Amino acid sequence: MALGQRVGDTMILSIESSCDDSSIAITEISTKKLIYHKKISQELEHSRYGGVVPELASRLHALALPAILEECKPWFGQLKAVAVTNAPGLGVTLIEGVVMAKALSLSLNIPILPIHHLKGHIYSLFIEKEAIFPLTVLLVSGGHTQLIVAENYDTMETIATTMDDSFGESFDKVAKMMSLGYPGGPVIEKLASNGDKSKFVFTVPLWQSPLIAFSYSGLKNQVRLAIEASTPVDYPNIAAAFQQTAIEHLTQKLKKYFKTHKPKNFAIVGGASANATLRSNIEILLAQYSASLLLAPLEFCSDNAAMIGRCAIEAYDRGDFSQINDIAIHPRCKL
Ligand code: KG4
Ligand code: ZN
Repeated sequence: MALGQRVGDTMILSIESSCDDSSIAITEISTKKLIYHKKISQELEHSRYGGVVPELASRLHALALPAILEECKPWFGQLKAVAVTNAPGLGVTLIEGVVMAKALSLSLNIPILPIHHLKGHIYSLFIEKEAIFPLTVLLVSGGHTQLIVAENYDTMETIATTMDDSFGESFDKVAKMMSLGYPGGPVIEKLASNGDKSKFVFTVPLWQSPLIAFSYSGLKNQVRLAIEASTPVDYPNIAAAFQQTAIEHLTQKLKKYFKTHKPKNFAIVGGASANATLRSNIEILLAQYSASLLLAPLEFCSDNAAMIGRCAIEAYDRGDFSQINDIAIHPRCKL
């Protein structure tokens, strides 16, 4: 049988372009099976700037998304809807995905499912699986650091958020200070594995505050001062102490929250959930409560369209379709 020609299967094509990853997936609605997934990352292009340059990201999406879409043509006849991340993210990159979704909607005569990027990250846990709720979620990415209580698809509440930088962003900024390129998370984690975390002492953000909230800009400045003060610069030890403090901040606040809200099912999602030290520290914490830890496969931690497609199945079942003229982008949009 020809590729994409199975009779009777109905599918959703999903598009993700909220930041610097161009990705398209095709998901079978009835089985939740991921039929096709491709992602083109722009890390190399942004690396020389030490962070994502929105205008450049937008132009790269305009090249990458049509190239990926070309490969999806065999399934066009089976598509029942097109899903697209429309919030939150960079305005100039979200629009690339949304415009493509509108064009597909018009030409294939299928409805559009607008998907919230953060909900998509939560559904990265359930790719090709049934969802598990209720769930307490730590979402750590380049744009967000949030503690979320997800009762189900429709009811998700943000309990705590960052007051300034996000967890992943602080790794990116520290990597930039060390001229290590972008994204900073994986390189800092690798550097830290060769360092001694006890050689530098950084104050854990908000450790005396009763607030359940996050903050990373002060820690970033502590790291900057340490870099300026050490000659030659002791990169591995600074990276190890920074990573330890950044993670300790998360675990301290979680401990505080767990005093009144015992966890049962706990998940870490988002690009920075790939960090092995973060995973193991939270695993140790959860063991005290006999709570289980849910994680997405490593390939689906960072931005991807497979998680958008999985989330879109729920939206499809609810009939959450948007008219072509109604769908708008929302660069800043809470869950
Ligand atoms: O979810 P994601 O792909 O994009 C956003 O929605 O922001 O997350 C990317 C972020 C970047 O800031 C990157 O440095 C961080 O996740 N990250 C990590 C690790 N891998 C990626 N941060 C810490 N440790 C890692 N291993
Ligand atoms: Zn993301």
